[in-house]
Amino acid sequence: MKITVIGTGYVGLVSGTCLAEVGNDVLCLDLDVNKIKILEEGGIPIHEPGLQEMVRRNVAAGRLHFTTDQERAVKHGTIQFIAVGTPPDEDGSADLKYVLAAARNIGRLMTDYKVVVDKSTVPVGTADKVRAAIAEELAARGVQTPYAVVSNPEFLKEGAAVEDFMRPDRIVVGADDEQAVHLMRALYSPFQRNHERLIVTDVRSAELTKYAANAMLATRISFMNELANLAEKLGADIEMVRQGIGSDPRIGYHFLYPGCGYGGSCFPKDVKALIKTAADEAGIELQVLTAVESANNRQKHVLANKVKARLGDRLDGKHFALWGLAFKPNTDDMRDAPSRELVADLLQAGATITAYDPVAMQEAQRVFGPLPGLTYASGPNQALVGADALIIVTEWKEFRSPDFDLLKTSLKNALIFDGRNLYDPKLVRSQGFEYQPVGR
Ligand code: NAI
Repeated sequence: MKITVIGTGYVGLVSGTCLAEVGNDVLCLDLDVNKIKILEEGGIPIHEPGLQEMVRRNVAAGRLHFTTDQERAVKHGTIQFIAVGTPPDEDGSADLKYVLAAARNIGRLMTDYKVVVDKSTVPVGTADKVRAAIAEELAARGVQTPYAVVSNPEFLKEGAAVEDFMRPDRIVVGADDEQAVHLMRALYSPFQRNHERLIVTDVRSAELTKYAANAMLATRISFMNELANLAEKLGADIEMVRQGIGSDPRIGYHFLYPGCGYGGSCFPKDVKALIKTAADEAGIELQVLTAVESANNRQKHVLANKVKARLGDRLDGKHFALWGLAFKPNTDDMRDAPSRELVADLLQAGATITAYDPVAMQEAQRVFGPLPGLTYASGPNQALVGADALIIVTEWKEFRSPDFDLLKTSLKNALIFDGRNLYDPKLVRSQGFEYQPVGR
């Protein structure tokens, strides 16, 4: 099938590449000339395990192409995926300007039947707006080319995006047009594996499903964070509590890990957008989610608060080693990463920081810009030298088994603040460290 993917970011590039991998002829469009240049030169603009090789393989096979040419892009695919960003507007609602610009562009340039697929995470009702934007453009040209609008939210996780796309738990397709459903079913048939994974719904339910999934996951995290803070005060161990409740199949073990707050490009903005849609479109205050959001905002300061409780509110002259910057392992994504609050809190209190992240340091430099007091190290051990304490923000694998003897000799104090509960407290403490995890 001929497919166009509009927006070649984390979702667009992965979707386009995986669709090419199963034999489709895919053209990825982005307005960011730099991104397309990197891709045309054989690189990839993001860090995502397994993606680079898959991109190369499909480019070499002639099934995957990149362009900044909008006319070529609209012409190419019968299926037009919209996978552009939907960042939060100033009031927290999802900003649809990129989605609607992409839709208008399709309407302005299309000459034959198109299935326009909303893959971006968009509020309920967006498919209607996309449909209307295309209709307006067609009317302005005085043509009546047929088209369908489908909602097909994406559930991939950064860091495991290729695997998630190739082996999905479910594929949600919201459509009320039979021809479009037929095409989507055919498109996704190579990803079905051993049982039916395609869930066909009405358009609005599909749109809401994506927000419901992210809101549920964010709720579990905030709930566990709150319990961890409580466990700490009551002298209980949240890790034991986690195992005790996770063994109940109604609860399960996934997404029960406490830490220093959820971040990334999805949970914070999607929780905000759902709260806002509910209030504006339905007059409903989502009380649970409002609490989830405020608990998370508080949790992002948990590490800085622990540091201050131990070393004093002012941290002038104190220097910290920071392990991890990305919002989670296996990605370079720094959007809403808890490290951002932590760095701001520590610098504001007068401290200096040397940070290390296996892949996100370039992105961190772009995000932070030059910040007096923040430097970067070439490796985890280099970051430790002369620091008053080690602070861990991202649970990269390479931080899980450090050389504790080296840690002790490199740090000024044998002091670790761990926002991701990487170590066994008994073991670390028995080696002479003061260890401050979350909830243990
Ligand atoms: P991104 O910011 O990485 O990529 C978006 C791309 O769209 C950018 O490269 C931008 O230059 C391009 N763009 C904007 N307007 C355009 C236009 N009119 N024509 C062509 N290109 C255009 O965003 P990301 O992370 O891929 O997210 C995209 C959507 O998918 C969002 O709605 C997000 O919520 C959703 N999503 C993201 C996931 C993630 O893990 N990043 C997972 C599931 C959904």
